[in-house]
Amino acid sequence: MSGSDTVTIEVTLNDRSLEETVPARTLLSEFLRDHEHLTGTHRGCETAKCGACTVLLDGDPVKSCNMLAAQVDGKELTTVEGLMDGDELHPVQEAFWNEHGMQCGFCTPGFVVSSAALLEEKEDPTIPEIQDHLAGNICRCTGYTKIIESVQEAADMQQEER
Ligand code: FES
Ligand code: FES
Repeated sequence: MSGSDTVTIEVTLNDRSLEETVPARTLLSEFLRDHEHLTGTHRGCETAKCGACTVLLDGDPVKSCNMLAAQVDGKELTTVEGLMDGDELHPVQEAFWNEHGMQCGFCTPGFVVSSAALLEEKEDPTIPEIQDHLAGNICRCTGYTKIIESVQEAADMQQEER
C-alpha cells in the first residue's frame, strides 16, 4: 500500500509480472479493462450475479466486479485473453467457436474462463457437473444447450491432446 488513496499492486497477469499504482477503490474489473485494456472481461450486472466479468485468480474463477484490485496483490490472474497459447485458441475457446456456444457473445468470456477452470479440475465432467459449475454464469441468448455441448467438446479435445 502507498498512501491512503492509492494502492500499489504486484500481480502476474496472463503470465506477465507487473506493478501498478491505482486508486484504492479500483475494482478488479476496472483495473483489467480501464488500466490494462483487457476488454475481454465484460461488465454486465456489476453486482456479482451474471458472471460476465469472471477471471481466474490463482486458477479459481472469481467475479472481478465484486473485488478490489488491491485484493489480487501477489497473486496470479488469468483473463480470457490469457487462455490463448500464442496464436492458438484454448480448447474451450475453440469448442465454443465450433459448437456455436455463443450468440451475442456478451456472456462468453465468463463462460469460457469458468469452463477452462472446470476442465483443469475434471477431465470429463458430466452434464450436471457442468451445469453446477456454470451456475454463476448467466446467458440470455443461447438456452445453455450449446454452451454445455461446447464444454463437452473441449473436454474431448483436451483428453485427445493428453
Ligand atoms: S459483471 Fe460481474 S457478475 Fe455481472
Ligand atoms: S450469448 Fe448473449 S448473453 Fe450469452
